[in-house]
Amino acid sequence: MAQDLHVLIVAAGSGSRVGGDVPKQYRRHRGKPLLRWSVEGFARDERVTSLTVAIGEGQIERARDVLDGLDIAYVTGGATRRDSVRSGLEQLAEAGASGFVFIHDAARADVPDHVTAALLAALESAPGAIPALPVPDSMIRAADGAIVEREALRRVQTPQAFHFDAILAAHRDWPDGREASDDAQMLRAAGGEVALVAGDERLKKVTFEEDFIDQRGLPALRIGTGYDVHRLVRGEELWLCGVQIDHEFGLSGHSDADVALHAITDAVLGAIGAGDIGSHFPPGDPQWRGARSDRFLAHAVNLATEASYGIGNIDCTIICEAPRIGPLREAMRHSVARIIGADPARISIKATTTEGLGYTGRREAIAAQACVLLEQRN
Ligand code: CTP
Ligand code: MG
Repeated sequence: MAQDLHVLIVAAGSGSRVGGDVPKQYRRHRGKPLLRWSVEGFARDERVTSLTVAIGEGQIERARDVLDGLDIAYVTGGATRRDSVRSGLEQLAEAGASGFVFIHDAARADVPDHVTAALLAALESAPGAIPALPVPDSMIRAADGAIVEREALRRVQTPQAFHFDAILAAHRDWPDGREASDDAQMLRAAGGEVALVAGDERLKKVTFEEDFIDQRGLPALRIGTGYDVHRLVRGEELWLCGVQIDHEFGLSGHSDADVALHAITDAVLGAIGAGDIGSHFPPGDPQWRGARSDRFLAHAVNLATEASYGIGNIDCTIICEAPRIGPLREAMRHSVARIIGADPARISIKATTTEGLGYTGRREAIAAQACVLLEQRN
């Protein structure tokens, strides 16, 4: 019978080399949180007996969120990678684990089948096995430029595979306070042999900002357009770009009829392919009667954020004979900027008349059109 195969993924680091507020394992990489890639890969693998993820203190909610739907045991990691691995191994030991264990970095998204197959095969004759790659470039010592013989060097990756009892003992024997950059090194120090199998470039560790790839098959830039018209009537308030304007006519509509915000909202929704304002806020729905349109735009921008896009820039043209938009332009820009949480420099509000022609020319309505550029963000 095949040995049990436990998988321990360490995800308790702070990702300091990437920086930012969110540790790198929770950031999106090629369309999903980095951590989810490797965990999903192992969750699909029928050889795997159990899956444990070591996470940072206080990150259980975040981890559960990004690993939703997967059967995972969690353990709190420690200050160093070694501590995090140790915590995971001890939790597995308490649960009576035996057989084999793969120890893997959450920062490595793809785990090719040929690597796991080679590791398991190697464990038949050695207590440890690691994926390693040759070094293609010349290597020098930075201090003096001295050549380091690259033929002798290997780049070491994870998953690293071990007989469970052997790596647990090696971790327990390792002196406190001495750092270790990988687990194989500890097994070797304990006298255990470590086999090398062929690594794979796809196991590259996401380490720096530029390692993140956010393609999802979608463009880094997306564009959307929006257009809206509302009737001008007496006895209604006039709102444009979230600014209330003193005018003898106002716009009629189910909500506050802010035609400019509606056009911008539609442009944002259009850019992410998320329908139009009517599909999110049906005009017949009583809850939107008289609603301020800034909510609609904020909702659209939230959807864009969830889809990993931020506002690149917005250009909106208001089409009317009156009121005159020029004097209100700056207030409108700042209002839109406030609603979407962006720099006003990204926002342009323009106006034109239609020379007395058509319904805008006859002052029966105000129209607005908007164009929005979204940029992919991680
Ligand atoms: N790791 C961990 N516990 C730590 C430190 C690191 O579980 N105390 C994990 C990381 O989450 C990562 C793996 O070990 O999945 C490899 O570490 P690394 O790429 O260095 O990640 P970080 O330590 O988070 O990044 P940095 O070194 O840039 O701060
Ligand atoms: Mg680190």
